[in-house]
This record gives sequence, C-alpha cells and structure tokens, in this order.
Amino acid sequence: MSEPLPIAVLVSGTGTNLQALLDTVHGREARIAAVASSVEGAPALARAQARGVPTRVFARADYAGRAARDEALADWLGERGARLVVLAGYMELLGEPFLARFPGAVINVHPSLLPAFPGLGAIEQALAYGVKVFGVTVHFVDAGVDSGPVILQRAVELPDAREPGEVLAALRALEHELLARAVALFARGALRADPQNPRRTLIEADG
Ligand code: GRF
Repeated sequence: MSEPLPIAVLVSGTGTNLQALLDTVHGREARIAAVASSVEGAPALARAQARGVPTRVFARADYAGRAARDEALADWLGERGARLVVLAGYMELLGEPFLARFPGAVINVHPSLLPAFPGLGAIEQALAYGVKVFGVTVHFVDAGVDSGPVILQRAVELPDAREPGEVLAALRALEHELLARAVALFARGALRADPQNPRRTLIEADG
C-alpha cells in the first residue's frame, strides 16, 4: 500500500464521524494529520487528542471575519500537509478562497439523500415532509450549500419514523460507513469526474 494520504477533518460537535475515521482509515489509506473545530471545547476535539492528532480551534469570533478565519484555517491545514479536507459535522460554510486552496479535495457527509433537504435540520425537514425513505450523502463540497457532486449515497426505509432521534440512530452507522469508504476511495485515487457530466463522480472498478 502507498503512503497513507494526509487528511484534515473539520468538526464542530460530537465527532462520531471523526471517531469512525480514526477507527478505520486512519493509519491505513489515510493519516488524520489535523483536526480543526469551529467550536471551542467540541467533544470531537478530545477524540482527536486521545489519538495524538494535532487539533486547533478556529472560532469565528477570534477573527475579523469569515474570510480571515478561513485563510488562517487553510494555512494551518496546509502546514500539516493535508491533501484532503473532510467536513464531519462542520457547521460553517467555506468560501471560494478556501475551496481554491484544496481544489476537488473537500468532502462532506450529510444526513439526507441530496438534493433533497440540504442545509441544517435535514432530518427534521425530511420528517416534516413525510418521507418514507431517508438516507445519507457524501459529496464534494462546492461554494453552495450541500450542492457539490455526489460521491456515495445510501437509502434506508423508515416508514414509521416519527422522531429525529430514531432517524439519526439509523443514519449514523450509514454516515460512518460511507464517509470512511469515500476517504479510502479518494486516497486510492479511485474517484474522478465523468468527462461527459462533471457532476457525476465515477468510481474506479477496484474502488
Ligand atoms: C452528522 O449527522 C453529519 O451528517 C452532519 O453533522 C453530523 C455530525 O455528527 N453533517 P458527528 O459530530 O460526526 O457525530
């Protein structure tokens, strides 16, 4: 196997997706070289520290504005050699200047079958709509809100779901599985845009 791909993970909260990456691809296809949080004291930070992964907080209030924060964040990730940036519950939008620092190398996990229910409260949106099928999407990040090219999706039928908690419990495991698989595929160079349709992500056969 080639050298593990150095990656960065951006978090804001609990960090179960970060934990899934620490427990799977970290030290194999990838090496988590940095974890940055937009929130001081986010439980996700302790998960990284427990495994000796460098962490830093980039709280919006500490900077003149979002652009300044994003620039400082991109600089820190670059200094750590990150070749892929994984958003794992990161609750801030990333502007074009940040994305341009990591072209085609920022991915996100979202608890709905995009393009349905983008943005915050996706599960609550789906329940309010009355869907019978829920799901998870891992996608490349563009300057929109959860609008970049899809990498992996998985659906789950929950016809009787009524509360966000029961949907979240069913989707968490899918998030962890799909995000780890997407990182492994990216690390192996198995993902590329379809020349016929750049919105479509092709996965190499052995991916
Ligand atoms: C997950 O539901 C993810 O899909 C969404 O934010 C949540 C993060 O959860 N983007 P955790 O912090 O990884 O447990």
